[in-house]
Amino acid sequence: MFNKVLEKKLLPAVTLSEVDSALRVAEALLEGGLNVMEVTFRTKTTAQAISAIAAEFPEMQLGAGTILSAEQLMAARESRAQFGLSPGINEEVVKRALNIDFNFIPGVMTPSEIELALSHGFRTLKLFPVSDMGGVQYIRSLRGPYQHTGIKFLPMGGISLSNLASYVSSEMVIAAGGSWLAPRTLISGGRYEDITKRVRQSLAVVDQ
Ligand code: 3PG
Repeated sequence: MFNKVLEKKLLPAVTLSEVDSALRVAEALLEGGLNVMEVTFRTKTTAQAISAIAAEFPEMQLGAGTILSAEQLMAARESRAQFGLSPGINEEVVKRALNIDFNFIPGVMTPSEIELALSHGFRTLKLFPVSDMGGVQYIRSLRGPYQHTGIKFLPMGGISLSNLASYVSSEMVIAAGGSWLAPRTLISGGRYEDITKRVRQSLAVVDQ
């Protein structure tokens, strides 16, 4: 499933506080050529924003991020998110996702967390906060013990246009994610055309 959803190799992580701006951000991402986004569960209006985007832009593949509890996971699914992500691996959330057959990407950082995720059958893992843990060099170190398992990483945390190329060129990376594509400063400033520009620039880096 995630090979298709993340085929453009980019996942914007977006924090939205208003439905109106949520729709404008989704439109700006689509305009730039990206039909996937993560909406973080960090504001009271997250579920509402996801529902509104799903209704207005059915072509947008919606992920709900920062899922910290089973309740949030259920709210994400009800709001029509198609998949979920967490910064870490939480047994309650992971078990619920498996029980309800909801596509899910747990967050990992250490070898023990990677193996815990593997033991639950997950093969796409968010690697967060990657830049604080050595960035691409850390991913290279994980290649030896884990490449043969078929896992793919979604590195997030500290990724920007300037270091994107090194992440997406790794065989173990399915896509790179983060807030640089649609940061809060651009959203609150209504600078939606700059979001579109960042998407185009980032897609050009991925395609190099
Ligand atoms: C996340 O939501 O996973 C991270 O906050 C993304 O990190 P970034 O803001 O450094 O891109």
